[in-house]
Amino acid sequence: MSIAILWHDWPMSTHSDTLPAHNEETWNDYYAASLKRGKHPLYQVLQPYLEKPGTALELGCGVGHGVLYLVSEGWKVVAADINERALEIVRSRLGESNLSDVEFVLSSIEDLKFEPARFDLVVAGYCLFFVPENAFLTAWVNLCNGIKPKGLFMGQFMGPEDDWADDGLTVQTSAQIDELLAGFEILHHDEENKIGTTSIGKSKHWHIHHVIARKLH
Ligand SMILES: C[S@@+](CC[C@H](N)C(=O)[O-])C[C@H]1O[C@@H](n2cnc3c(N)ncnc32)[C@H](O)[C@@H]1O
Repeated sequence: MSIAILWHDWPMSTHSDTLPAHNEETWNDYYAASLKRGKHPLYQVLQPYLEKPGTALELGCGVGHGVLYLVSEGWKVVAADINERALEIVRSRLGESNLSDVEFVLSSIEDLKFEPARFDLVVAGYCLFFVPENAFLTAWVNLCNGIKPKGLFMGQFMGPEDDWADDGLTVQTSAQIDELLAGFEILHHDEENKIGTTSIGKSKHWHIHHVIARKLH
């Protein structure tokens, strides 16, 4: 599968991503680019809902913009990624004094194990669509079980009209996303379905759902 490192400018758009790949070299390029950007604008939307610090899980944490932000807000964070390099970068970005606030877990989303109702917040930024389709539902149910009643979910789902939908990523229709989120109150849902440009000026159709939701029970 060919690989491209393509992303929008955070301030102009809500996107940043790569084509699906577990190619270490490619992810390294992605991480280098990601380090130059700040955290995703969706965190600003999330901020008012973070009433008090708790315990968060960040899936597919990448270079850890979310981890660093949450730790700075007083949260304890489990930082999980399938790629060891991502965890190394997050570790190196945390000051000595903050290391004890973060537990590092090298795991795919689909293989991750944690006790039920452990988390006040689960973040899955641009990573759920890397979960293989045949493992997605089980992984989603597991993730939901990990969230406390009234806890929060923030993340992205990919829609079927995304240019990369045919590249082996797992996509959901709007109706499927509604079903996945049936046990949640939707606090924010922004569907982006439009031609955009990438950092290298290439045109690409983005179809991404940005979601913040609160678990009902
Ligand atoms: C596009 S990056 C997003 C990073 C970060 N969440 C962000 O929004 O900046 C996707 C991350 O998910 C990780 N990843 C890819 N497939 C994964 C999987 N099946 N389980 C866990 N992490 C995965 C990659 O190693 C990468 O760090």
